[in-house]
Amino acid sequence: MQNHTSEKKRAVVAVTGASGIIYALRLLKVLMDNNAEIFCIATNSAKEILPCETGGAKDIYGALLRECPKEYAEKIENISFFDESDFSAPPASGSFFFDAMAVIPCSMKTLGKIANSIADNLVVRAAEVALKERRTLVVVPRETPLALTHLRNMCSLSEAGASILPACPAFYQKPKSVADIADFIAARAAMAMGFKQNIFKEWGYEEKL
Ligand SMILES: Cc1cc2nc3c(=O)[nH]c(=O)nc-3n(C[C@H](O)[C@H](O)[C@H](O)COP(=O)(O)O)c2cc1C
Repeated sequence: MQNHTSEKKRAVVAVTGASGIIYALRLLKVLMDNNAEIFCIATNSAKEILPCETGGAKDIYGALLRECPKEYAEKIENISFFDESDFSAPPASGSFFFDAMAVIPCSMKTLGKIANSIADNLVVRAAEVALKERRTLVVVPRETPLALTHLRNMCSLSEAGASILPACPAFYQKPKSVADIADFIAARAAMAMGFKQNIFKEWGYEEKL
């Protein structure tokens, strides 16, 4: 049962301290293109890694301003940003409806905590809410190689209803830039969350659209 006070679809995007923050930035751009109401949570580790991967941006807000064209500025202003310690944030409760959540990129630490319901921060709590309320949860793990513990945690999450969408870009779209490579994962994550994407056309329909 949806208890929706918003006309827009709601998306929760959690960013953790795995490499690949660009995947989150590109997904946020796709969600802004969908006019989604966006709730973005960054872990403390994500904030530490962010400057290394985004040319010095201090936070996701600053990184998005750099990553997106100027016309996105107003939409970026409308994103609600939360720290991992903020359990007063709406996604901490099942009484707050959201359509889908992505954890992107997802560290093996956060993946293990979600798989075992160790809800000691807002990211894991919101993911737990998504699972218990039978909502869409998309987890985008980034690690290589994988330990057996990682694989077992992914298996548990898949059994619990999450979609495991590894950060494995494809190359048949002939990417020309790092942003193009990241866009493939962003588009697949948006699709798995139930949002539209216009980054690539469906296979077999490239000429027909
Ligand atoms: C530069 C750097 C890159 C990292 N990349 C990864 C990664 O790709 N995957 C991963 O699982 N952990 C990675 N880590 C380790 C995580 O940041 C660490 O486990 C952290 O505690 C995760 O916390 P969080 O899940 O709360 O964000 C990386 C750490 C650093 C410093």
